[in-house]
Amino acid sequence: MAKYKIAVLPGDGIGKDVMDAAKIVLDVIDLDAEYIHGDIGWKFWKTEGDPLPERTVKLLKETDCCLFGAITSKPSGDAQKELAPKLQNKGLVYSSPIVKLRQMFNLHTNLRPCKAYPGNPLNYKDNIDIVIFRENTEDLYVGVEFRPLPKTVFDALMINKKMKKFENTPLEDIAVSCRIFTRKACQNIVRQAFEYAKEHKRKSVTLVEKPNVVRETSGMMLEEARKIAQEYPGIKYQETNVDAMCMWLVKNPQDYDILVSSNMFGDIISDLAAQLVGGLGFASSGNIGDNYAVFEPTHGSAPKYAGQYKVNPMAMLLTVKLMLDWLGEKKKATKLEQAVASVIKEGKVKTYDVGGNSTTLDVAKEVAKKFEKL
Ligand code: IPM
Ligand code: MG
Repeated sequence: MAKYKIAVLPGDGIGKDVMDAAKIVLDVIDLDAEYIHGDIGWKFWKTEGDPLPERTVKLLKETDCCLFGAITSKPSGDAQKELAPKLQNKGLVYSSPIVKLRQMFNLHTNLRPCKAYPGNPLNYKDNIDIVIFRENTEDLYVGVEFRPLPKTVFDALMINKKMKKFENTPLEDIAVSCRIFTRKACQNIVRQAFEYAKEHKRKSVTLVEKPNVVRETSGMMLEEARKIAQEYPGIKYQETNVDAMCMWLVKNPQDYDILVSSNMFGDIISDLAAQLVGGLGFASSGNIGDNYAVFEPTHGSAPKYAGQYKVNPMAMLLTVKLMLDWLGEKKKATKLEQAVASVIKEGKVKTYDVGGNSTTLDVAKEVAKKFEKL
């Protein structure tokens, strides 16, 4: 029996293209693993009314971790229209399967490294090496939302005098999305960031929130971060408001090291940070829980490029690197990163986004070749 069982979920659009690239590289890495395909995505929403079928959840429960491609999500009106006729008007509601997976498996930590590999012509500046820790299960992503606002909820909210402003607004004209944080999740994400900083000998951890305005949620995160920071005297702790962070990331990205944030702010700054190092074609991520993890490139399914083997597989290959790290296969992980870095540095085999005309699979083959020589 193989040492690891890994679920492989290509999903939608270019998810398959980049998964095929990952397979080329996984072949030469020669991990003692069994890879098992699972269904996920838009196709299963249309035909089964569920983008995350029960059999896929079962598969994930039977595996050690999951490698995931990409998902197409559309607004609810469009989602309804595309449902198979037999599934129409049954009250089915589309929800993002990746957000569901994060919550279902309590994948509390979203790890998103953004490194400017030398030689990448798309680097915004040299020497950028940022790792984002994004809380992954709470905040606005919990999905506790109301529109119209039920009278009972309105009445309950009225205990806060600031609600008076809405007293005369019709309930159907009020939309509420709840930003929910728990102390435990705040502590956890900050702890993960500091532990990572300690293990990787990083210099600083910066908390990215907005406690001057969102006083209770961001405020609680700040309170916990300050306490935890004291346990790591060797690591510099800083605090920045999310808006200012966007400015500083554009101005002096080299000054930042580990960033830690809540779910929505973390989502936003991770796209910004990705663009500093070549865009989503280079941005990897891991959704990590206590006992399970789902690894996915940060990019989406880019439907217009689906099946053309045109897109950059580096994000996916660096995602495989994160998976190897998590499995404890550090040597293979380091070698894979070196292989990726050397292909980038040589700059001969590259996809269109980097100014080349190699295919997704050409790039993967080149990385595989380099890996074998290391
Ligand atoms: C990401 C994506 C997802 C998110 C979407 C696809 C639901 O933007 O992983 O960053 O918002 O978390
Ligand atoms: Mg995002």
